[in-house]
Amino acid sequence: MNIAIVGTGYVGLVSGTCFADTGANVTCVDVDAGKIERLKNGEIPIYEPGLDELVKKNVAAGRLKFTTDLTAVLDDVQIVFSAVGTPPDEDGSADLKYVLQVARTIGQNLNHYVVVVTKSTVPVGTARKVRKAIEEELAKRGVDVPFDVASNPEFLKEGNAIKDFMSPDRVVVGVESEQAKKVLTKLYKPFLINNFRVIFMDIPSAEMTKYAANSMLATRISFMNDIANLCERVGADVNMVRAGIGADTRIGRKFLYAGCGYGGSCFPKDVKALIKTADQNGYSMEVLKAVERVNERQKSILFDKLKRAFDGESLEGKTIALWGLSFKPETDDMRESTALVMIGLLLEAGCTVRAYDPVAMAECKRRIGDSISYCRDMYDAVLEADALLLLTEWKEFRLPTWGVIRKAMRRPLVIDGRNIFDSEELEENGFEYHCIGK
Ligand code: UDX
Repeated sequence: MNIAIVGTGYVGLVSGTCFADTGANVTCVDVDAGKIERLKNGEIPIYEPGLDELVKKNVAAGRLKFTTDLTAVLDDVQIVFSAVGTPPDEDGSADLKYVLQVARTIGQNLNHYVVVVTKSTVPVGTARKVRKAIEEELAKRGVDVPFDVASNPEFLKEGNAIKDFMSPDRVVVGVESEQAKKVLTKLYKPFLINNFRVIFMDIPSAEMTKYAANSMLATRISFMNDIANLCERVGADVNMVRAGIGADTRIGRKFLYAGCGYGGSCFPKDVKALIKTADQNGYSMEVLKAVERVNERQKSILFDKLKRAFDGESLEGKTIALWGLSFKPETDDMRESTALVMIGLLLEAGCTVRAYDPVAMAECKRRIGDSISYCRDMYDAVLEADALLLLTEWKEFRLPTWGVIRKAMRRPLVIDGRNIFDSEELEENGFEYHCIGK
């Protein structure tokens, strides 16, 4: 089977590589010539565990190719995936300019039946627009080539993307014809050999499923953060509450961790986009509006705790150590990360920031330059610090040698935004310790 994947971002590159690994011939297409050149040389533009080796393996086997020219590959493919970006425009709705550009290029060059599958997260109704754009281009050429559109939203988690793709909980596919269903069934069979969990549905429902899933997950987090903030005020412990409610199978244990807010490329953007879609359809998503507000507030909660710990004393001139910059562990992605909000607040208050992250420091530097110090390791970051703030729960932060840190810091204050440290151990080592929700 020959397929083209347009867009070598996170979703496109992971999907293309994984499809190639099942034996499909995959050509990944991107307009960014520099990126394509680097990929051809085996340089992977993102940090994702396992991706590097898998790309190299499939390139060497001749199943994974890279090009800037979609028109050159169209003649030979049965499926075209569109995995280009849909950045939020000023009012929060997804910008479809790239998705529709791909559709037009397909319409301008198509000579045989293909299934055009949108993998990017796009608002309900986009497949219809893709179909129209292709039809318009075909009409301009005066030809009538059969094709189908389909929607196949992606549920990959950064940092776990290869595993998620290779053994998914489910694959959601929106189709409008039996022929498209047959083609996509064949493509996904290898991933779900013993337990075929492809859920076929109509296209608008598939488009909606992605937003509903991310919004539900974001809602769980904001709900737990709200509960955690109340726990602090009434003397309860959110970790106990989580264990208590998570044991109810209707609720489940996952995604109930209170912390210093959710970030990343999906939750903030998708929650915003769904609110916007509703507004455009004359409906107001009250729950999601609150989910957003709670998350915005939660991103500055460590700053509030820091101010409280200093009890009215000015933060000006204080040195603050930050552990973790990425929006979550196992990625260098800093989109909508809590660290960006915290760094802004700390610098505004006149603090010096010493940060360490296992992989995201280069990305941070690219975004905010040298306004903070980038440290050699987690111990270097706490030198002469008046407080240590943990923002991202990287594994290597979980068992620090507190004695060494105690000696290095000016003031033994730890504020834990992800509830990963043991309060008793911290207190035994002479630290003042604050976390979320107890
Ligand atoms: C998410 C969805 O999980 C994925 O299905 C979708 O396709 C894209 O968006 P991702 O953004 O990679 O994936 O990260 P995820 O692991 O879901 O975490 C998102 C954010 O929520 C992180 O900032 C994380 O710290 C936060 N989070 C997660 C919590 O604060 N508490 C939790 O219990 C879980």
